[in-house]
Amino acid sequence: MTRSATSVRFAAVGDIHVTKDSAGTLRSFFTQACESVDALLLCGDLTDYGTAEEAKVLADELAGVSIPVVAVLGNHDYESGTPEVVVDVLTKAGVRVLDGAACEIEGVGIAGAKGFAGGFGRGSLGAWGEPVIKLFVKEAQNEVMKLEAALAKLRTPRRIALLHYSPIAGTVEGEPMDIFPFLGSSRLEEPLLRYPVDAVFHGHAHRGTLEAKTINGVPVYNVAKPLLQRKRPGEPPFRLFEVPREG
Ligand SMILES: [Fe+2]
Ligand SMILES: [Fe+2]
Repeated sequence: MTRSATSVRFAAVGDIHVTKDSAGTLRSFFTQACESVDALLLCGDLTDYGTAEEAKVLADELAGVSIPVVAVLGNHDYESGTPEVVVDVLTKAGVRVLDGAACEIEGVGIAGAKGFAGGFGRGSLGAWGEPVIKLFVKEAQNEVMKLEAALAKLRTPRRIALLHYSPIAGTVEGEPMDIFPFLGSSRLEEPLLRYPVDAVFHGHAHRGTLEAKTINGVPVYNVAKPLLQRKRPGEPPFRLFEVPREG
């Protein structure tokens, strides 16, 4: 690997949706993604149904990766009702799965949480009326608190936020408007205003937009693999990002 002396480099991708049939299909992709970077960032929907079997396939595919791998889960990783099994398998394989937690790669802080749905701006669902609506909004608020707690832990001058759901509408544009409320929540943008970061990565919106900005100008990258493949044909489906190396 040719590391840079002046910058810390990351490769980011989400929505790999590993199935039991994915064995052997992702190794060269991961090798290529990790060629000249310091860490690999995975933005959720790591598996298709959240089974132990799928997580093991992903762990095997990552076996040749020798740089740190940092991940958050996506909604698909919850489908079988056992996200802790996915976390356990991946953690044993050396992946750092962040769920309201933070870690540091070469002096760059990374805060990670899955996030949740609820809609954007004036279309955001409010905690009003039936208990189940309040529960739904509460879940979004819990994820916001997780992201905030993770960001608050970081003392590094350079910071990255890792999510599955989008914190802004800009990177889900391209999807049918009817499903915007299920693709992310503006509530997730609030901690990013209080704790500014260098970049936000998310997935989930397979037909969204590659790049937009928060209201305080932070770049937000939708790195859903199907989106990268569709929007950048001929280019490898991951996004490279670098920040100046401190010290
Ligand atoms: Fe996905
Ligand atoms: Fe998703």
